[in-house]
Amino acid sequence: MDRRSFNKMCSGLLAGAANMSLAARNSYAANQPAFPRTALLDPDGNPLHPSALATGTAYIFNYPFVTTPCFIIRLRSEQGTAGESGPTTLLDKAGTEYQWQGGVGDDNSIVAFSAICTHKMSHPAKPVSHLNFRNEEKIFFDRDGKKQQQSQLIYCCSEHSVYDPSAGAKVLSGPATQPLAAIELELNDKDELIAVNSYGGNMYDDFLQKFGFRQAMEQNVSDPATPSGDHARITAAEDYSTLQILC
Ligand code: FES
Repeated sequence: MDRRSFNKMCSGLLAGAANMSLAARNSYAANQPAFPRTALLDPDGNPLHPSALATGTAYIFNYPFVTTPCFIIRLRSEQGTAGESGPTTLLDKAGTEYQWQGGVGDDNSIVAFSAICTHKMSHPAKPVSHLNFRNEEKIFFDRDGKKQQQSQLIYCCSEHSVYDPSAGAKVLSGPATQPLAAIELELNDKDELIAVNSYGGNMYDDFLQKFGFRQAMEQNVSDPATPSGDHARITAAEDYSTLQILC
């Protein structure tokens, strides 16, 4: 889903149309503004400053729709974000290249991604989550079957996909078809975090069709395609879902 599709979807919402865009695709057009500007709020409802994010802890916020969950994570700076190593070139499932721009903050360590697995769209829901950020070092087997040991990865325990948030959420293991969609963050002149865009391949259309109405009930909105709007509050991932399925 690109900006045109997003705007089309929102127009449809305003007109009371129930249809969602089925044909939307990413174009990755250079310098194309996309999706809403949504200021992030801390759990108390105050503007979110980087200092409020505990290192190695994942938080959930909803963007670009009130029904689509995202992770925001402050990685350890020695983990090597793109701010240190330069933008990372990734491929979506259609084979289209895009550049992950890395994290924000003093040490470029704050990153955000759509929390919708690109395999079968497992995601954090209020009752349960199979998609989790693991700060501790863990062993997994990569796509070549080689044993790897790494900390600070995102695991989908539905069918064991593994994503690396320090490298644009690229896929390290499992059946996921593309990286998690990147969420672009900005820091304004008051040192407040704002979500300004989603780029890379995303699952929003399919997700809204499959899970939108359940998510809408969870979020107490009538339309699953309600845009995230001016503000979105973060919640620690361990508090967001009652049950965390770990693997
Ligand atoms: S839904 Fe995530 S690996 Fe299948």
